[in-house]
Amino acid sequence: MDEVIAIGLTKRFDDLTAVDHIDLNVPEGSIYGLLGPNGAGKSTTLRLLCTLLRPDEGTASVGGFDIIESPVKIREITGVLPEEGNHTLYQTLSSYENLEYFGKLYDIPEDEIPSRIEELLSFMGLWERKDDPAGELSTGNRQRLALCRALLHRPKVLLLDEPTSALDPIAAKRVRELILSLAEKYKQTFFINSHNLAEVQRICDSIAIIDEGKILLSGNTKELRSRLQASQSYRIRVANDLEGALLVAKSMDFVKSVDKEVDSITVTIEDPDSNNSFLMQSLLSKGIKIIEFAEEEATLEDLYLDVIKGGAE
Ligand SMILES: Nc1ncnc2c1ncn2[C@@H]1O[C@H](COP(=O)(O)OP(=O)(O)OP(=O)(O)O)[C@@H](O)[C@H]1O
Ligand SMILES: [Mg+2]
Repeated sequence: MDEVIAIGLTKRFDDLTAVDHIDLNVPEGSIYGLLGPNGAGKSTTLRLLCTLLRPDEGTASVGGFDIIESPVKIREITGVLPEEGNHTLYQTLSSYENLEYFGKLYDIPEDEIPSRIEELLSFMGLWERKDDPAGELSTGNRQRLALCRALLHRPKVLLLDEPTSALDPIAAKRVRELILSLAEKYKQTFFINSHNLAEVQRICDSIAIIDEGKILLSGNTKELRSRLQASQSYRIRVANDLEGALLVAKSMDFVKSVDKEVDSITVTIEDPDSNNSFLMQSLLSKGIKIIEFAEEEATLEDLYLDVIKGGAE
């Protein structure tokens, strides 16, 4: 069953169409990443799904409940991390008291609340901060606490807006691992907004790319990654004759673009698995000393360019 479904979902703010007829399907127990630049419409989509906003057109359901007809049901079965996660916290209550309060609100059995709170706070590295008022936590720790709050009642569906944006790399990794294990063990479904392609590639089963309110491309992560890797950029650092390296690279028809930097050239190569070694041999045969031949990390921009060049779908 699909836990999150949207059909033609649309939201306008005056003249601006922030979410423009989007369709999406998120199967139970899967992790879905909505990826896009600032202002693309990610948070608006999430606010529609968690019933904080009403759509102007289209429909959506979460856990089988319609977002217009059953908002209360949806709030019961979802855990939400809004964009401003700390707005869901009471600033003067301690970390522990915040979770205790929400635990009661969500009707978690009284005797289970303390163990769940300890488990989550410990996992997020916040146990030692349990008595600190939420308003005095650092931004990253507030984000961790807001995540604990979203997870506390073990909701079927998690709607998370940029869950790791304020976290240090170790905390971000722990959160990613937690999401993966919850989706697998308890079949919890995750809908995650992000502008971090590397992160989304690592954990999401499927990805949609949104820009100016429209979904430009969506699909299974593996398929999208292979599409992205159909051409790949490399940085070639040389010890001598940078101009010569540039000429050699430009003469190859599988090299789609070449940029010159101080001691290196950056080339975009079509079908790198077949063509890289040929380029390297050609450079060496011209007496060019290669110090480094390194894959550039694929960025969201590369994926956009790829999508736009290939014709948006
Ligand atoms: N309440 C609002 N009133 C008017 N315009 C809004 C409102 N909320 C969002 N918008 C506009 O809708 C568009 C989409 O915003 P949204 O917050 O959904 O983007 P986003 O993809 O989450 O961006 P970011 O990565 O910066 O968080 C933007 O142009 C934004 O200015
Ligand atoms: Mg946003």
